[in-house]
Amino acid sequence: MKGVILAGGLGTRLYPLTKVTNKHLLPVYNKPMIYYPIQCLINAGITDIQVVTGGNSAGHFLQLLGNGSDFGLKDIQYTYQQGEGGIADALRLAENFVKGDKVCVVLGDNIIEGNIKKAVDEFGRQGKGAKILLKEVHDPERFGVATIRDGKVMKIVEKPKQPESNLAVIGIYLYDAQVFEICKTLKPSARGELEITDVNNWYIDHGQMTYEVLKGWWTDAGTFDSLLRASNMIHDGGANRMDL
Ligand code: DAU
Repeated sequence: MKGVILAGGLGTRLYPLTKVTNKHLLPVYNKPMIYYPIQCLINAGITDIQVVTGGNSAGHFLQLLGNGSDFGLKDIQYTYQQGEGGIADALRLAENFVKGDKVCVVLGDNIIEGNIKKAVDEFGRQGKGAKILLKEVHDPERFGVATIRDGKVMKIVEKPKQPESNLAVIGIYLYDAQVFEICKTLKPSARGELEITDVNNWYIDHGQMTYEVLKGWWTDAGTFDSLLRASNMIHDGGANRMDL
């Protein structure tokens, strides 16, 4: 399985921290943000990794990560997203890298405490389709929110004003190779982006979506409050621990 980390976008919610640099290069406690999704993939046994960057300071990813040897990787791939067309727009750029394989997509500002290896291995055995990871949160209106009935995902609504559940869709997605054809059919949302939630709803509508509820903490780090929370959580308990 391939791993793709999406680290494009302009990080406008963190302005002026992101005025001259890319959000995913900012510190989260003692490491640059991008280190955590990379380690997350490696802990799950995925070592064939592409970073989709964009916006400011894209060259700094190369200086920081080099050929991936600090992480024990043989090499690491890079590509660049022009503009801020959305998560699914950034994912489209990974089509040549993924080359018909299955792919684990991690948003560059998502950090987890535990290890997704079990979900990745299960998805490896899943015939076709996709798998998402869910987490109970107290502020679901900030995220994609899943409605579950009889053990199945019925729908996902992106940032609902009145969420039907408190189960957020976290920014780690497992897809089969259909995902790139699905991305080609998407239309920009009201916020002008190609939405990953539309991709996930395609799989749901076609009866091909499975899910798991994540153990351990999860946070994004794309706002001032969540960036601070991410640093505090890592300070207090570490991230990407193997034993959850
Ligand atoms: O954190 C999980 C949430 O991430 C999900 O619950 C939502 O369903 C999903 O839409 C997304 O929500 P956000 O609005 O918080 O995503 P954001 O725009 O902050 O982008 C998250 C990461 O995706 C960002 O750190 C880098 C990557 N990205 C984003 C955009 C808009 C790109 O690579 N390119 C882009 O154009």
